[in-house]
This record gives sequence, C-alpha cells and structure tokens, in this order.
Amino acid sequence: MRMHSSLADWRTVRTGDDYAGKSVGFVPTMGALHLGHRALLARARAENDRVVLSIFVNPTQFNDPADLAKYPRTLEADLRLASGLADDVIVPTPDELYPDGYAYRVTEEKLSRDLEGAHRPGHFDGVLTVVLKLLNLVAPQRAYFGEKDWQQLRLVDGMARALLLPVEIVPCPTEREIDGLALSSRNRRLSHGARVRAAQFPAILRAADTAAAAVVALDAAGFGVDYVEDRDGVRLGAVRIENVRLIDNVRL
Ligand code: PAF
Repeated sequence: MRMHSSLADWRTVRTGDDYAGKSVGFVPTMGALHLGHRALLARARAENDRVVLSIFVNPTQFNDPADLAKYPRTLEADLRLASGLADDVIVPTPDELYPDGYAYRVTEEKLSRDLEGAHRPGHFDGVLTVVLKLLNLVAPQRAYFGEKDWQQLRLVDGMARALLLPVEIVPCPTEREIDGLALSSRNRRLSHGARVRAAQFPAILRAADTAAAAVVALDAAGFGVDYVEDRDGVRLGAVRIENVRLIDNVRL
C-alpha cells in the first residue's frame, strides 16, 4: 500500500502503468477509520482491480470550528486498518485541495437545505465540493458511500448525475455494533455510559409508530433531538448526547 501526501506524486501513479486499463474503486473518508470503512474497502476490493482510499478531514464541511478541532485524527491506525484492502492512500493537505481558498464550490439548492443541512448550514456545499475534487483526482469507475449518511449519499449521487460524472456511486449498508448502534468515527468520543445509552437511538427510531412518537421517546431517554423525519420509506434522525452528534436512519 502506497501513501501519497503530494497530489503530484499521486497523479504520477494514477497515470502510470499500474493503473493502465484497470477498474478503480474509491473510498473517500475523513479518517478515524472503523469496521464500517473496512466494509466499504472490502466491497471496493471485490469489485475493482485497484482500490484507492482518501483520508482528509475536510474543513469546509464543518460549520462548527470546535467540532473540526475535536475530530479524531488517527492516521497510523487508519493505515493499519486499510492495509491489504487499499492499493493507494491519498492524504492531501488543505492547501493542495483548496488552491482557490474555497472560492469555487458546488451547491445543491433543494435537499441540501433540509434535515442535516438545516442544522449545519453550508455542510453539504463542503461535502459536495470536496467529493467532486476527489473524484476528479482519483477518476474511479465506482465510489463507495455508506447508507448511514443517507442525505450525503443522495446528494453525491445527485451531483454525479447532474454534472455527468463518469462514476457509479455505490450505496453500502450501514454497519452496526452488536447492540444496534451505527458505526461512526464520532462514537469514540462518547463516555462509557453515553455509549451504552446511545444504542437506544436506533432502537427508538425503529420501534416508534411515528416520527413524532420517536421524538417524544428520544427526548424522554435523555437525547437532545435535532430532528426525526420519515422520507421515502426511511426514518431519519439526528440527536445529541454528551455534545456528540449522532445521525442514523432505519427502513420503515
Ligand atoms: O462521509 C465522510 O466521511 C465525508 O463526508 C466525505 C464523504 C469523506 C467527504 O469529506
């Protein structure tokens, strides 16, 4: 597995013999990798000749500077988790990915304003912009995204279609802990007690008869509720526990 912190170095590999005529699968991440990311990499490995992983904590998708500062950075452990599954890991710097200082950006005008977008203004502009840059750099046939981030997945897929990008966006099922909590890099910021209680979040989303009933039950269980909404046969929710924000969704 090769690691590239310079984009020039990566471009040399991407245009070289090792990638010539090969199908490429891409897994974009912000690091702090867990077994959910490993499942994305394993799927990419099974479906492509070459697998590329990116690790970049993207500043433009954080509307809260404190959240960006607290985001876990675990590069060495990430490389261990990806080894044997990724061929190349790109770890760009903000200066290289944003030579324009984020003057140019991708904006979606409808879905991005709702749900997560309503609570995190500008979040999806940052996500779509960085994903487009990374897709341009990696030029994959397939890119893999987890269904836990339902809205992100819908928006990235919509962008690929709207901008006629030659890539298939592959949705991958949410990986869960044994007690049902969706795997997330943010889980490691929970205390032991909060981690145990957090499993009630997906359980309540699943068990409640309506979205409104889920809000009442989550509130009673001590969560700060940002939203619960039913869309397209999926119940989506975002809650806060100990200042850690968790999102999840379940099929109705
Ligand atoms: O889901 C994530 O980890 C990020 O939003 C992504 C897609 C890597 C863009 O920074």
